[in-house]
Amino acid sequence: MTTNGVNGEKPNGQNLDAAKFTEAVVASMGEKTPERLREVITSLTRHLHAFILETNLTTKEFMAGLELMNWAGQMSDQRRNEGLLLSDVLGLESLVDSVTSHELGMDNAATTSSAILGPFWRSDTPVREFGSTMTFDTPPDAEVAYIHGVVTDAVTGEPLKNALVDVWQCSTNGLYEQQDPNQREFNLRGKFHTNDQGQYALYGIRPVPYPVPSDGPAGKLLQLLDRHPFRPAHIHYMTSKEGYATLVTQIFDRKTKYLDNDSVFATKTDLVVDFVPKKGDPNATLDLECNIALSPLRERATGGGNARYST
Ligand code: BEZ
Ligand code: FE
Repeated sequence: MTTNGVNGEKPNGQNLDAAKFTEAVVASMGEKTPERLREVITSLTRHLHAFILETNLTTKEFMAGLELMNWAGQMSDQRRNEGLLLSDVLGLESLVDSVTSHELGMDNAATTSSAILGPFWRSDTPVREFGSTMTFDTPPDAEVAYIHGVVTDAVTGEPLKNALVDVWQCSTNGLYEQQDPNQREFNLRGKFHTNDQGQYALYGIRPVPYPVPSDGPAGKLLQLLDRHPFRPAHIHYMTSKEGYATLVTQIFDRKTKYLDNDSVFATKTDLVVDFVPKKGDPNATLDLECNIALSPLRERATGGGNARYST
């Protein structure tokens, strides 16, 4: 019987020198491998090999994991990103977001905290007028809110005119418009420019808690892990301005359930906001002030730049 070729030993976990085996896989990368890719794959290989050894992962378990990932791929399309959802329920997107914010110099007290993008952002959302609505065919159980604030430079505190504030939220049935044939396209989403005083304003609705889609592999995993699929009520924001790090975040209603146990681990205490009653506005019963401080862009060591999301 022939041997595997890693120092003449069989890779069967019995007489295998695991450390040599792992390093042989790492060393198999050729000279032309880009430096950053080499760094990431080296670390990934070592951690995955260590994980397999630590858990004594069997072929059956390995195949079950692969099946889950393949299922995620098969379910994903332009409207559904099941791979991202799977990573979300394991806290991966939140962790990557923290690392990226640090790389971009955004993790300081003066800059508004970031939070995960999630799978429901759309790059082709229309730009809407200052102070206009993004809620159409508003359901009877929705509370309309006037949502407004000022976008500032986190260092100088100066208001930033002509920043772009991209806002999206789900309806009271817990569905984003692309998930729901009964909502018109681009309902509850809009891009708003700030005015000369750095202000933005729009009408939306008070958000509701909702379950992440649970009819696929992420839902299956949550079920196996005896976890609920709910997210606390939130509104998504992506705010950009030339010369500043694009801020992707979410704001959370202080009165919502699940603030302490978000199924995708995205809440942060400084992103909790208060909806207050609004008087004298025929279009809204609630008011939400949400100010946003952006971090000026600086040269980054890792070359990640500001291109977090393709727009
Ligand atoms: C969301 O907030 O839209 C979301 C985030 C992560 C997973 C699923 C949904
Ligand atoms: Fe969401």
